[in-house]
Amino acid sequence: MKLTTERLILIPPDISFSEDVYTYSGNPLFYSLIGAKKPESIAQSQKFVEMLIDDNKSKKRCYWMIAHRTENKVIGTIGLIFAKQSYIEIGYGLSADFWGQGLFSEAAKAVLDYADKTLTIKELFVRTRADNIRSVKAAEKIGFKVIKQYPGFYFQNGQYFDCIEMKRVVEK
Ligand SMILES: CC(C)(COP(=O)(O)OP(=O)(O)OC[C@H]1O[C@@H](n2cnc3c(N)ncnc32)[C@H](O)[C@@H]1OP(=O)(O)O)[C@@H](O)C(=O)NCCC(=O)NCCS
Repeated sequence: MKLTTERLILIPPDISFSEDVYTYSGNPLFYSLIGAKKPESIAQSQKFVEMLIDDNKSKKRCYWMIAHRTENKVIGTIGLIFAKQSYIEIGYGLSADFWGQGLFSEAAKAVLDYADKTLTIKELFVRTRADNIRSVKAAEKIGFKVIKQYPGFYFQNGQYFDCIEMKRVVEK
């Protein structure tokens, strides 16, 4: 299903936008703090999109591509990750060309609104690298609060990194 906001349309993952994903995922600003690597080819980004499609089908995720209405392209992905029945995370990534414009908040609010309407669960979580300050601040802006820090939680590219866990509770 599509979600529409002022500047964005959140659309189901679609492989025809794999080149857009490849373009923004190749920016070190985008991939360095999430422990990813520069995609080697459009085919690799297509595999990522196919994984999102499969995960949506098997209900491991409920994920969207973030399409910019006037730029006419996909500029990120966002959605819910059903890690366990009682532990639902929100995951996100936005092209660095579009940071600092409030687009993340705009997309995230649409997803949170959808989650609040469709899920019975009250709590949602974010887990992010502690040194990904932009991600922590962005999650705070949409109502998440830091609850815990896990030292050395991530092992990425030969190094350990702390994880910050954040939570948002909705009264139902
Ligand atoms: C996380 C992400 C979606 C946020 O998007 P964004 O457009 O940068 O978000 P916003 O501009 O709404 O918020 C970022 C906030 O961090 C602040 N910030 C950025 N760098 C900072 C720093 N070094 N120290 C303190 N605050 C900082 C910004 O000032 C802004 O807050 P403000 O609006 O109050 O000024 C984007 O950075 C992203 O896609 N990153 C790569 C993928 C990623 O890290 N995903 C998370 C995986 S868990």
